[in-house]
Amino acid sequence: MIFTVAIDGPAAAGKGTISRAVAARFGFRHLDTGLLYRAVGAMGGDPVAAALRLTPEDLTRDDLRSLAAGQAASKVAAIPEVRAALVDFQRRFARAEGGAVLDGRDIGTVICPEAEVKLYVTASPKVRAHRRWLEVAGDEARVLAEVLERDARDMGRADAPLKPATDSVVIDTSGMGIDEAVSQAVAIVAASLSQGG
Ligand code: C5P
Repeated sequence: MIFTVAIDGPAAAGKGTISRAVAARFGFRHLDTGLLYRAVGAMGGDPVAAALRLTPEDLTRDDLRSLAAGQAASKVAAIPEVRAALVDFQRRFARAEGGAVLDGRDIGTVICPEAEVKLYVTASPKVRAHRRWLEVAGDEARVLAEVLERDARDMGRADAPLKPATDSVVIDTSGMGIDEAVSQAVAIVAASLSQGG
């Protein structure tokens, strides 16, 4: 069976948690596509060359989750040649046999417009900054500024800007706990599967 769940949305909206839970629930593979851009940013040097020689081991670096790595990722992600170098890998992952969940910014719009389920997971900037601050600690106002800067860059770039696909279902997790957000997403995927995708 080929079945793709595309989960897009801004930083710290809950995409990762929802994606992992959906993948586990349905036995699908999961790809956190933000890690690709984080790894390219962390590798240093020419970002296009880094994207072209990216290997799965590069995604296991332990320095990819920091605020600095997120900023570096969103800068390299605005370079069209970097994005182009990463398209094939993501498309193959999305359409391989067995079902896949991909989370990112452009999965439903560019990488896999034919995805059987498209979710756009969002939350208010304040809520997202608070969640990210719980993970990274430090100064909460600085974390909010970082989230807003990254949102602006990701939504404002010319190539594959962050925006909901026209046929996506929006889940606003601002007032929701993890369980509620996950059960909404699981119900949407289950309904699509029961209708044959
Ligand atoms: O999702 P995460 O916060 O790890 O993503 C890091 C950065 O990578 C984002 O801010 C965005 O600029 C970029 N990204 C992207 N397209 C994706 C996934 C991530 O441009 N599909």
